[in-house]
Amino acid sequence: MKPKMTLRLSFLLNFLLHLLYAAAEHESPTSTSIIFASLGSRSDNAFDIFQLPILDPPSITNEIKITDGQSLNYNGHFPSPSSILSLLPNQTLIHTRVRPDPPPFELIYVTERNGTWNIYYDAVYHYDTPRSTGSRSALEDLTIRVQIPLLGFVQSENRISFKDKPTLSREYLVYVSTHEDTGEPRTSWAAVYSTDLKTGSTRRLTPTGVADFSPAVTPSGTWTAVASYGAEGWDGDVEELSTDIYVFLTRDGTQRVKVVEHGGATLPSEGPVSTESVVVERVTPPGLHAFTPATSPGNENFIAVATRRPSSKFRHIELFDLVKNEFKELTRHVSPQTHHFNPFISPDSTRVGYHKCRGESNERKSTQLLLENLRSPVTDLSLFRIDGSFPSFSPADDRIAFVDFPGVYVVNRDGSNRRQIYPESAFSTVWDPVRKGIVYTSTGPTFAEPTTEVDVISINVDDDHYGQPSFKKLTTNGENNAFPYPSPDGKRVVFRSGRSGYKNLYIMDAIDGEKGGLQRLTEGPWSDTMCSWSPDGNWIAFASDRGNPGSGSFELYMIHPNGTGLRKLFRSGSGGRANHPSFSPDGKSIVFTSDYAGVSAEPISHPHQYQPYGEIFTMKLDGSDLKRLTHNSFEDGTPAWGHMYIKPLDVEWLKGGPRCSFEDCHWLNEIPNHGAGTTPLVSPKTQCRA
Ligand SMILES: *[C@@H]1O[C@H](CO)[C@@H](O)[C@H](O)[C@H]1NC(C)=O
Ligand SMILES: *[C@@H]1O[C@H](CO)[C@@H](O)[C@H](O)[C@H]1NC(C)=O
Ligand SMILES: *[C@@H]1O[C@H](CO)[C@@H](O)[C@H](O)[C@H]1NC(C)=O
Repeated sequence: MKPKMTLRLSFLLNFLLHLLYAAAEHESPTSTSIIFASLGSRSDNAFDIFQLPILDPPSITNEIKITDGQSLNYNGHFPSPSSILSLLPNQTLIHTRVRPDPPPFELIYVTERNGTWNIYYDAVYHYDTPRSTGSRSALEDLTIRVQIPLLGFVQSENRISFKDKPTLSREYLVYVSTHEDTGEPRTSWAAVYSTDLKTGSTRRLTPTGVADFSPAVTPSGTWTAVASYGAEGWDGDVEELSTDIYVFLTRDGTQRVKVVEHGGATLPSEGPVSTESVVVERVTPPGLHAFTPATSPGNENFIAVATRRPSSKFRHIELFDLVKNEFKELTRHVSPQTHHFNPFISPDSTRVGYHKCRGESNERKSTQLLLENLRSPVTDLSLFRIDGSFPSFSPADDRIAFVDFPGVYVVNRDGSNRRQIYPESAFSTVWDPVRKGIVYTSTGPTFAEPTTEVDVISINVDDDHYGQPSFKKLTTNGENNAFPYPSPDGKRVVFRSGRSGYKNLYIMDAIDGEKGGLQRLTEGPWSDTMCSWSPDGNWIAFASDRGNPGSGSFELYMIHPNGTGLRKLFRSGSGGRANHPSFSPDGKSIVFTSDYAGVSAEPISHPHQYQPYGEIFTMKLDGSDLKRLTHNSFEDGTPAWGHMYIKPLDVEWLKGGPRCSFEDCHWLNEIPNHGAGTTPLVSPKTQCRA
C-alpha cells in the first residue's frame, strides 16, 4: 500500500509543481508555442520612411529619414500641417515638450512592431540648423520625436489584424485592416475603415463580401478610391491582381460606383462619378514600368511614381511632369542600388516621401531578431517568426534547427551557439523524438521534378569532432526523396519520394533508411508531400494535389501509417492551397499554411513574395475551430508546433545589420509593354461634390 501511496503523492506533487511553474509563466499546462518562417528574411525588409525635397536637386545630403529606424515602417502619408495635433488627446503633453517653431515634419505610416501592426503618427522637430551644412547625422542629433500610435486594439474589435495605406482626412483616419473574417474561403479580409480620431469610433466603408485595397482619398476628403475585387472575387492571382477601381463617399462608404475596370482613372471635376464620366488616360509613356502613382495635392502639374527602367534592376521614385510629359529622376541620384517604394507627396507639394531599406548606416544598427514574437490571437499559444526557414524544435524545445539557404543550422533557443550543421542546399528540418541531437532533412534542389536527386539524410548534430557534424544518407536511389518526419517512437520515418514517377508517401527505417525496410504508404498519379506524424503515432497528415493533379491546388489529408483511414482534413475552397501540416503536442489540432484568407495587400506595392497570401492557421482534427494566426503581406509557411510554452518575447541575435537582399517583384518583365499598376490615382483636379 505504502509505496503506491508515495508514487501517487509524488505524481500529485509533480503535477502541482507543474501547475505552479505554469502559473508563474502565465500559462496553463496546455499552453504551447508555434514557430514559422516568412519567405526570404523578414528582417531584410528593414524599411524606414525617407523624404526628399522636390525643388532642390536630389542628393544624399538632403534626403532625410523620418521614421525611427526600429522594426518595419512603411506606406507613409503626409498629413496637413498640424491638423493632427488638435485631434490628439495628449496635445498638452506634446506642446509642453516641444516648441512649435519651426514646424515639425509630420508623418502617418504603417508600422509592424511589438508583435502587431499599427498606424503611427510621428512629428519630428528640429530646433537648429545643422552644425556642418549637409550633414544628416548632425541634423538628426538635434531632433525630438513625438510618436503616437493612432489606433488602439479596440478599433479592430480587439482582434489581430494587418494595417495598411493610411490617410488622414480632417479628423478621419482612413486605412485598410484585416480584422474581420469574411467567413468565405479564399476571400481577402482586407477592407477600408475610417476611425474618427476625436472619438475613436470606427466605421467600415467597404461593403461586406468585398475586398478593398490601397485607398486614396481626394484632397477635399469627399471621395475615396480603392482597388477592389468585384463579384468574381479573387482568382488566386498573386502577381498583378485583377482589381477594378471603385469610388465611394469617405463619410460613410455610400454612393459606391465602379469607375474603371482594371486600371487607373481621372475623376471628373464636376457632377456624378460613374464609368461614363471618368476619363481614362494613359499618363506615363511605354518603355518602363510605372506603378503606385501619387498625386500632388498642391500642384496638379506633376505626380510621383515608382518606376523600373529597363536599364535598372531597382525600383526608383520619379516625378512625372504632366504638362511637359517628362520624368525627373529622384532616388536614383541618392541610392541607385536600392529599391524605393510607394511615393507620396506633401500637402504643399514640396516634399516626396517613400520607403526603402534603412541599410547599414553609421547610425546604431537595428536589432536583429532570431525569434520575432508576434501577438497571438490565442491566449495560451505564443507565436514566433524565425529569421530563417523550415524551423523545428528539439524534443526539449531548447534548440531550433532551421534552413538558411544554403545549409542547415542549429541554434539555442536563446539565440546563442548558432552553427551550421550541414553546408549544402537542404530543406525541411525535424528532430528525432528519441535519439538526442539527430536532425532529419532533405538535401538537393527545392520544387524539383520527381526524378531529380534529392536525398533524405539524418545529421548527428552533437557529433562534430571533425568540425562538421556527421550525417547519414537514408535514401540512395537518386530520385526526389524529401520531407522526412519520424514516428513518435523514433523507429520509422515517413517521407515523400518521386521513385514511381509521382511524388507519393513512403515509410522507411529511421536508422538504416530505405535499406532497413521500405513501405509504400500512398499511390497515385499526383503529388503527396509535406508529411508529419501525429504524437500518438496513429496518423500521418500530408498535403496532396490528388483532387486536381498538377493544378497547384493542395488540400490536407490524414492517413493511418498502415495505409487505412484516408480522409480529407482541410480544403481552402475551390482551387485553394493548404500546405505544411504539423500536429499540436496533444494531437488534437494541426497548424498549417493556407491561402484561405486571400491576399492582404496588393503585391505590386511590396517586395517579391511568391505567395503573398500564405498565412498560418490552426484547426481541430475534426475540421472545427479554424483560427487565423498571422496577418501580413508576406508568405508565411513551414510552421512547427513546439511542446511547451515559450514566453512571448523577442530573441535577439548578433547577425550584422539588415542585408536588404530581397528582390523586387521578379515577375516584372525587363522591357514592359504597358505601364500603370492597379493602384488608384486620384487627381487633385477632382472637386466632386456629394
Ligand atoms: C497621455 O500621456 C500620458 C503620459 O505618456 C499617458 O499616461 C496617458 O495614457 C496618455 N493619455 C491618452 C489619452 O493617450
Ligand atoms: C506591447 O504589447 C503588449 C501586449 O502584447 C502591451 O502590453 C505593451 O504595452 C506593448 N508595448 C508597447 C511599447 O507598445
Ligand atoms: C491501421 O492502424 C490504425 C491505427 O493506427 C488501427 O486503428 C487500424 O485497426 C489498423 N488497420 C489495420 C487493417 O491494421
